[in-house]
Amino acid sequence: MENVPESTSPSTSGDGRDGPVDSGASASPATPLLSLRGISKNFGPVQALQDCDLDVPAGQVTALIGDNGAGKSTLVKCMSGIYAPASGQTFWNGKEVNIHTPRDASDLGIATVYQDLALCDNLDIVSNMFLGREETKYEMLSEIKMELSTKQTLKDLSVTTVKSVRQLVGSLSGGQRQAVAVARAVMRDSKLVVMDEPTAALGVTQTKLVLELIRTLASRGISVLVISHNLLDVFGVADRIAVMYLGTIVSEGPIANYDTTSAVELITTGESSRVPSRLSSSL
Ligand SMILES: Nc1ncnc2c1ncn2[C@@H]1O[C@H](COP(=O)(O)OP(=O)(O)OP(=O)(O)O)[C@@H](O)[C@H]1O
Ligand SMILES: [Mg+2]
Repeated sequence: MENVPESTSPSTSGDGRDGPVDSGASASPATPLLSLRGISKNFGPVQALQDCDLDVPAGQVTALIGDNGAGKSTLVKCMSGIYAPASGQTFWNGKEVNIHTPRDASDLGIATVYQDLALCDNLDIVSNMFLGREETKYEMLSEIKMELSTKQTLKDLSVTTVKSVRQLVGSLSGGQRQAVAVARAVMRDSKLVVMDEPTAALGVTQTKLVLELIRTLASRGISVLVISHNLLDVFGVADRIAVMYLGTIVSEGPIANYDTTSAVELITTGESSRVPSRLSSSL
């Protein structure tokens, strides 16, 4: 576990790779953007994560799936600096890093969109986008500048359903709120956007909006790690799948290696006769 194997499979999507993937170090194209090795985490006697290995390649959508309580949110919180793993290593572009705080994660370019989104309903879209890091000029907020870059970011992400960036976030639909939270993450020069169940509370149209947004991010070279219980969404949007079962990643690979039957088998039993599983040490 001294180094990260250059094992990530090539993209199965035909999306562009012209986005701002800042490799930072001189990592080879096969080196995943983020790699976790042997991550374990317990809450007292509860072993939430056990020896988790996960690769998140650049510019691809990786879906993290698993049953309730499998450990998905805990794993995401470990890579976002909310929880400190008890053991394990984290690599960014092949270089080992320590993520102790959310600030560490954000400095690397990891933006996490949690399910509650942490938006302020009583503020408009622009104010939410710049919350805590307002642009100032001569001590005054550069409202025009912030408004323009908010509009540009939403346009870049092809978010067209928002009528005005001066609309209060409290008046937006679930999908639009999700779009604002993602736009805020992207505006911070993120290289990896992590989304914990972004479509769980959404209707059909809103879900479509968020799934399109995820593909837009990937087409701009941004990696997305998305947790979802909805296999239809997963097979519609992901390039890769990682399956968690009882606190560990039991299978990981290109979406083409899976179908809904094998995915359900892996989610419910940790094994599938149709896909190699790490539990049966076939990898
Ligand atoms: N703060 C905590 N304190 C104690 N136990 C926790 C804590 N957070 C998570 N757990 C436990 O760790 C395990 C993994 O929980 P986690 O929330 O990561 O699962 P999940 O895969 O995200 O589930 P879901 O699909 O229901 O969101 C569960 O057994 C849960 O009870
Ligand atoms: Mg969860």
